[in-house]
Amino acid sequence: MNSRILGIGRHVPERVVTNDDLSQMMDTTDEWIQQRTGIRERHFVTADAGPGDLAAPAARQALADAGIEAKDLDLVLLGSLSPDFDFPNGCSVVARHLGLRGTPVMDVRNQCSGFVYMLAVADKFIRTGGARHVLVVGAETHSTGLDLTTTGREVAVIFGDGAAAVVMGPEPDPKKGVLTTHLHSEGKYAKKLMVEVPTSVCQPRVSPEMLSGPGSRLWPRMEGRYVFKHAVTRFPEVVNEALAATGHTIDDIDLFIPHQANLRISQLVAMGLELPPEKMFNNIERYGNTTAASIPLALYEAREAGLVREGALVCLAAFGAGFTWGAALIRW
Ligand code: ACO
Repeated sequence: MNSRILGIGRHVPERVVTNDDLSQMMDTTDEWIQQRTGIRERHFVTADAGPGDLAAPAARQALADAGIEAKDLDLVLLGSLSPDFDFPNGCSVVARHLGLRGTPVMDVRNQCSGFVYMLAVADKFIRTGGARHVLVVGAETHSTGLDLTTTGREVAVIFGDGAAAVVMGPEPDPKKGVLTTHLHSEGKYAKKLMVEVPTSVCQPRVSPEMLSGPGSRLWPRMEGRYVFKHAVTRFPEVVNEALAATGHTIDDIDLFIPHQANLRISQLVAMGLELPPEKMFNNIERYGNTTAASIPLALYEAREAGLVREGALVCLAAFGAGFTWGAALIRW
């Protein structure tokens, strides 16, 4: 029994923050951001709202789209690098919003590749009969954890808030649904892209010294160029691995949805794969990098645009902090 995506939903906060808005807060320009990343605007929450608040409406929309009720879920997975709390898990917050009682829930803390990892987990549960309906949600409130001053500009301009969800269920046709998933990591690069504080390594986990000054360890830090170089290598590698595992070639792909980290990364990946640009879907220009939410958010919009047709071979791929990366092939 294969698994397949039965429904998709998404929710982004109303407030749109343009590159020009950011240039009022820090020394940056619309030109710099667009040239380096392709991003024009992103959404930020206005009031206190965690990923749980964003995830719930996205999940309800995905459930309605799939035609099932929350009580029919056998498993809920949440991908978020910005969960509401350190503990309990972010997924319990989502379950509370959905009014679930007794349903197993689990966080998959794999940052930008979180959605592909969750898709693989859900697929395995459904294939082995461990679950029939799985809700997979990616949700991020990045804006409350960014240094929105010139010191933090390299990281701050790339992230946006948002959530998107899919409901997965069984696919009886062995030629359809999720055909294969491939996951990887390389922990020696764990410190190339990270948020250090609060950290269980230190006593106390957070102190005024850790947070003071422009080098506050509370903010994400990233060796951007290093991440960029690895991404443009790992994406094509894992896509080719998925193609080889299923006897497909790059020409068989009808739609490629890469994690929306940076439009330049996606363009270089497509070039490296010799994939025609029109087969790739991007929406980073309007959302920035929404991490675990980016692929389902793009999938939602690609389907709205009529690009996810019955029978289409859809390739999803992601790379992010850890480093972790992965790919999935889905016959729609
Ligand atoms: N506005 C204006 N200038 C800036 C900004 C900004 N927002 N940010 C940096 N600069 C400056 C730098 O200070 C530097 O100035 P200098 O030459 O005087 O020293 C110059 O611009 C070039 O900076 P670089 O960091 O070399 O810029 P680069 O071309 O590498 O682009 C970027 C930076 C866009 C962040 C890029 O490295 C990138 O996209 N990296 C990958 C990001 C990524 O994919 N992350 C993974 C996903 S996130 C996750 O998994 C959580």
